[in-house]
Amino acid sequence: MSKVTVVGAGNVGATCANVLAFHEVADEVVMLDVKEGVSEGKAMDMMQTAQSLGFDTNIIGCTNDYEKTANSDVVVITSGIPRKPGMTREELIGVNAGIVKSVAQNILKFSPNAILVVISNPMDTMTYLSLKTLGLPKNRIIGMGGMLDSSRFKYFLSQAIGCNANEVDGLVIGGHGDTTMIPLARLATYKGMPVSNFLSEEELQKVVADTMVGGATLTKFLGTSAWYAPGASGAYVVESIIHDQKKMIPCSVYLEGEYGENDICCGVPVILGKNGIEKIVELPLNDDEKAKFAASAAAVRKTNGALKEVGAL
Ligand code: LAC
Repeated sequence: MSKVTVVGAGNVGATCANVLAFHEVADEVVMLDVKEGVSEGKAMDMMQTAQSLGFDTNIIGCTNDYEKTANSDVVVITSGIPRKPGMTREELIGVNAGIVKSVAQNILKFSPNAILVVISNPMDTMTYLSLKTLGLPKNRIIGMGGMLDSSRFKYFLSQAIGCNANEVDGLVIGGHGDTTMIPLARLATYKGMPVSNFLSEEELQKVVADTMVGGATLTKFLGTSAWYAPGASGAYVVESIIHDQKKMIPCSVYLEGEYGENDICCGVPVILGKNGIEKIVELPLNDDEKAKFAASAAAVRKTNGALKEVGAL
């Protein structure tokens, strides 16, 4: 039996659980939240869609009962507060660091072999915190941001080209921040052809800029951070692991020399399979992209520095 736990049944966590169930990614999906009744209610509501949507996944909701999460294969952590309009993801560190750390520790008591997928913001720093405090091998701690940012990049590319988003390919690497992410326009393609065949340099720059503030744009519209794409991106990452699909997905992972960086979690393409991170893929970046990656890593490292200030490390 395959089992996935999603911690945090807010907008992102509940959407992730819903997609996991609808796509029958696992036999059982457990949602856990600190708010009394929220997970139970959302789980029951989702289970009542099983006939209309035609899925057989069992969804269980619980309030802070970690025993129910026991023996999960993969655990998605969405706990913490989302950003409000005008806030950066980095500003959430003071509140979210303590929450993410204690959630991860509780999870491992009951699922010592689980692979962790971190969504909570600031995502690269929460992934790094988990890596530094839990004592797990690096293949079992994965930050989700790059999948989400790449989905937004492909969306904006398809809108600019006027084509189907599924026919566009592209990657966003670097930190999951408004100023740190790096949409790789040079390597993006439409049906295998460089997107520069279809878009002017100016149009491409606009796509890149829109992608970078993609989350902030939605936060402005919604009054809180987005959830459909973050939740679905989390489920996509989980699916590649649970079904051993070996998809190449940009994720925040611990780097030991790759891309010239050490002692940091930052977004790079990885192969995800049953062991979690099965391989870090080294892209042939040009000098400009390399410089952007170094600057992005420096910014992520600065945010990581705040973990000590808030007493989380
Ligand atoms: C976003 C948040 C979830 O980018 O980081 O929407």
